[in-house]
Amino acid sequence: MLKIGLIGCGRISKNHFEAITAQPDAQCIACCDIIAERARETAEKYNIPFWATDYEEMLNIADIDLISICTPSGLHPEHGILAANYGKHVLTEKPMAVRLRDADELIEACDKGGVKLFVVLQNRLNPSIQLVRRAFDEGRFGKIYMITSNVFWTRPQEYYDMASWRGTWEYDGGAFMNQASHYVDMVQWFGGPIEEVKSITATLARNIEAEDTGSAIIRFKNGAIGSINVTMLTYPKNLEGSITILGEKGTVRIGGIAMNKIEHWEFTDKQEYDAQIENANTNPSSVYGFGHTGYYRNVVDSLQSKAKPTSDGLEGRKSLYLLEEIYKEKQTSNVLRLTFHQNKRKESNV
Ligand SMILES: NC(=O)c1ccc[n+]([C@@H]2O[C@H](COP(=O)([O-])OP(=O)(O)OC[C@H]3O[C@@H](n4cnc5c(N)ncnc54)[C@H](O)[C@@H]3O)[C@@H](O)[C@H]2O)c1
Repeated sequence: MLKIGLIGCGRISKNHFEAITAQPDAQCIACCDIIAERARETAEKYNIPFWATDYEEMLNIADIDLISICTPSGLHPEHGILAANYGKHVLTEKPMAVRLRDADELIEACDKGGVKLFVVLQNRLNPSIQLVRRAFDEGRFGKIYMITSNVFWTRPQEYYDMASWRGTWEYDGGAFMNQASHYVDMVQWFGGPIEEVKSITATLARNIEAEDTGSAIIRFKNGAIGSINVTMLTYPKNLEGSITILGEKGTVRIGGIAMNKIEHWEFTDKQEYDAQIENANTNPSSVYGFGHTGYYRNVVDSLQSKAKPTSDGLEGRKSLYLLEEIYKEKQTSNVLRLTFHQNKRKESNV
């Protein structure tokens, strides 16, 4: 039985508790949150025997094998490094850090501590994505020419105001780093490694430090071109979350609310599993999807040496590398942002 302690009993933790409960050979035995009420209520709801507000108190429980980290993104490295120092395996929510150097410190601490590091990229396990990956690994696309992703979602100001870490550079990042990070990961998973990135980002309407809108263009080392267009300002609700892969011998488009639906599937060659594409489409109720259960299954199997991790620290780092490249052009976007606001001021003077 894998014994788990979870830190950060906020919105995403529910998916973790449900995913852990679904595993016959894993159990959450402790939870921790700086808000005592939240930790206590969570423990009651999910029958967790121990709760704490002090993280080290939880880490001192010798029985815990794995720490699941669901705190604000900027805190993942600190919480992961501490867990590794206590000899616990580490599972962290995405993104694994908001800066590459912090991610590297986390990877190093886990290596030194002789523990495994898992980064939750649950959408890679969606049945639809798995089928596309199979076709990709079998070379059915031929040469890849272009990969594009659109994330046209809506996040009102109230969403950002729910917690003070949201939209800050220190703990969150913006639309690319938080909301669109699974799409960024998918683009690099199919297109990477990366040769060069150009981007423009802007904070057009929300009162946050980081961007609410942006576009990135990528040249991959294999010569293909990628693009990612993201906004959290779509009126009046989420409109699109899609990835399109255009190759020499195949075209696939994945949509749905959490990359769960194959909208276009066309290859020169035909395979018996082409008939499964309808069955692979799922209907999750939120953009978080169903993937956490499969993700935990893989974690337990990896720790029992029955499987390879689907996304470990080095895989999580690849996404973060692309995110950091996108943000390198932040300076330029700050100038654009200023220009936008100056223009707006001029317009209102007229
Ligand atoms: N995989 C996914 O699809 C997915 C979806 C949503 C969120 N996330 C990630 O999960 C993380 C959390 O997001 P959320 O929406 O649940 O945030 P949230 O604000 O709802 O929850 C964070 C929790 O951490 C607690 N916390 C903060 N600092 C702490 C500390 N030092 N010690 C203990 N507890 C502390 C807060 O009190 C809060 O309860 C983020 O990194 C986010 O990117 C991933």
